[in-house]
Amino acid sequence: MSDAAVNPMKAGLEDVVVSPSEICFIDGHKGRLVYRGFDVDELVAQSSFEEVTYLLWYGKLPTRKELDTHVKALSSTANRKLPPKLIAMLKLLPKKTTPMEVLRTGISALSAFDPDAADNSREATLRKTIRLTAQMPTLVAAWDRIRRGKPPVAPNPRLSLAGNFLYMMSGKKPTPLATKTFDVALILHADHEFNASTFAARVTAATLSDIHSAVVSGIGALKGPLHGGANEQVMLMVEKIKDPAKAESWIRKALADKARIMGFGHRVYRVEDPRAKHLKRLALELGKQAGSTANVEILDTMARVVSAEKKIFPNVDLYSGAAYASMGIATDEFTPIFAMSRVAGWAAHVLEQHGNNRLIRPRSDYTGLTDEKYVPLDQR
Ligand code: CMC
Repeated sequence: MSDAAVNPMKAGLEDVVVSPSEICFIDGHKGRLVYRGFDVDELVAQSSFEEVTYLLWYGKLPTRKELDTHVKALSSTANRKLPPKLIAMLKLLPKKTTPMEVLRTGISALSAFDPDAADNSREATLRKTIRLTAQMPTLVAAWDRIRRGKPPVAPNPRLSLAGNFLYMMSGKKPTPLATKTFDVALILHADHEFNASTFAARVTAATLSDIHSAVVSGIGALKGPLHGGANEQVMLMVEKIKDPAKAESWIRKALADKARIMGFGHRVYRVEDPRAKHLKRLALELGKQAGSTANVEILDTMARVVSAEKKIFPNVDLYSGAAYASMGIATDEFTPIFAMSRVAGWAAHVLEQHGNNRLIRPRSDYTGLTDEKYVPLDQR
C-alpha cells in the first residue's frame, strides 16, 4: 500500500476540495450558480457575455468606460481575425475532421502566431486571453464553412461576440432572438467551478505552462461525452426519437436497459441545474419562431420521466442543443460552442492559479506489485 492510501478518496475525486477560489460558487442542493458573487439568473437577465468575461477575469463589474474598452478589444478585427496561414492549414485537414478536433488543433497552432506566446506575465496572459476568446468563434465558424466547401466569412467588429459568431456561420445577420439566445447560452456556460475541463486547465497552468496549453487541455477534457460532449449526444438521441409521441416509450425502454441518459445528472447538483430552465425557455421560443417545438417536447417528456423514475435531473446540456439546432447549427458544433464560452472560465482559473501557484501533483493509491523479478526476454 502506498503512503498516499492513508488518505483514501472517493472515486473521481468526488467532494474533494482542491484549492480556494474566488471565481465561481455552486450550491448543489439549492441549485444556485454564482460568478464572483453574482447569481447567474441575474446575469442572464441583465448582463452580456462580454461583461461576464470582464467580471470573471478582473473580479468586478466594469464601469461604462471599462466595458466599452473591453468590448472594443474583444470585437476588434485585429483580435478576431485568424492568421491566413492558419486558414491555409485548416484547408489541409480532412473534411471529416470533427469541429472539436479542429478547435483543439487550431488553438494549439494559434500559439505559434501569438506575439505574447513566450510571456506568462499576468498582463500578457490577459492579452492572450482576449485574443483567444475573440479568435475561437472565428476558428469554429471558419472550419464549419471550409468543410462545407464555402469561404470563411470575415468577422464584423460591429457585432457582439454572439451575433458575430452566428453571422460568420451563415453569412447572414442573425435575428435579435437568435443573438439574445446565443448570448445567454454563452453566459450560462462561462464558468462552473472545478469541473473536469477547468481542473485540467488548472493542472496545466500549475506547471507554469501558458494559457494556450491550458486551453488545449481544457478542450481535450471538455470533448468527452460525460462533460461538454453530452450536448451533442442529447441531440443524437432526440434525432433517433424524432416524434414527441414516441418519447415516453423510448426513454422508459432506455431506463429499463440501464442506459446512461445524456443531459441528466450531475456530480454537484442534487436538484435541477439552474442553467437548464433558461435554455429550455429559449429553445422553446426559438422552436416556435422556426415553426417546430418537437425537439423541446421530446426533451420535456424525457425530463419528466427521468426525474420521476431516477431522481436525476436535467443539466445544462439537455436543452442547449435544441436551441442551437433551431438556429440551423449542426450537432457537432455544440461542444465547440460550449468551449467558446468556457474559455472565459478557463482563463479566469489560469490567472487565479498563476497568481498563487503551487504545482498540482496528487498521489495514486498504488494497488500493483512491488517486488517482481526481471526475467530476461528469451527466458519468458
Ligand atoms: N443516466 C442514467 N443514470 C445516471 C445518470 C444518467 N445520466 N447519471 C447518473 N446516473 C446514475 C448512475 O448510473 C449511478 O447509479 P448507481 O449508483 O445505481 O450505479 C448514479 O446515478 C451515480 O452516477 P455516477 O456516474 O457515479 O455519478 P457521477 O457524479 O460520477 O457522474 C455525470 C456525473 C454528469 C458524469 C453523470 O450524471 C452522467 O454521466 N450524466 C450524463 C452525461 C452528461 O449529461 N454530462 C454533462 C454533465 S453537466 C455539463 C458538463 O459538465 O459538461
